[in-house]
Amino acid sequence: MTDLTNLRLSYTRAELRRSDLNPDPLAQFQLWLNEALRDGLREPYALSLATADAAGRPGVRTVLLRGADERGLTFYTNYDSHKGRDLEANPQAELLFHWAEHERQVRAYGRVERVSEEESTAYFHARPRESQLAAHASDPQSAPIVDREALEAKLAELHARFPEGTPVPRPDFWGGYRVRVAEWEFWQGRPNRMHDRFRYTRGGEGWRIERLMP
Ligand SMILES: Cc1cc2nc3c(=O)[nH]c(=O)nc-3n(C[C@H](O)[C@H](O)[C@H](O)COP(=O)(O)O)c2cc1C
Repeated sequence: MTDLTNLRLSYTRAELRRSDLNPDPLAQFQLWLNEALRDGLREPYALSLATADAAGRPGVRTVLLRGADERGLTFYTNYDSHKGRDLEANPQAELLFHWAEHERQVRAYGRVERVSEEESTAYFHARPRESQLAAHASDPQSAPIVDREALEAKLAELHARFPEGTPVPRPDFWGGYRVRVAEWEFWQGRPNRMHDRFRYTRGGEGWRIERLMP
């Protein structure tokens, strides 16, 4: 493998000062995400979702952010997956966005709850039909399956069960989670590892902002 010891970048693109920060971390997040979308970064709404089970065993994987408003950050998945089982046992998570081209990272920690059935159903039907069928086929998500053919056969069965023109119902095991963010961190890379970092934590009515050591 390539020797990694001397591979590193110095981050020079921007700086982040307290006076740059929006007092509302959601607005700050939306600004950074919009800048990433504007500049054509690839899937800047993809995030790493860290969970832990009741025994403390961690798990992390990528999911797509599907909404960000005052209520929290939303993603969709299979409730019987590893992450789903982790979240039922231990309903807290940390989300991580890394926008490498912008030399930025955002972390968001909070308690997690399921979104309403109505919201999950509405989003399920907004997805392409093939994705709806794939959600039915992949259950329980993350369970072993013998081979690709067995998976394709499951999908073919579903095509027969729900022919073109008939609606695909949302399965009960599929839906959204919302992270009610209690703590945010915004990280901007700076030269020589002297990065700018700010943490927002809830303080009474608003948010307390602290600069963190890099
Ligand atoms: C770019 C990308 C986006 C993904 N988006 C989702 C998603 O929105 N929901 C989801 O359940 N899995 C998504 N996945 C798959 C998950 O990373 C993961 O493999 C799967 O959900 C099973 O995770 P688990 O066993 O930890 O529950 C995505 C993977 C990648 C690489």
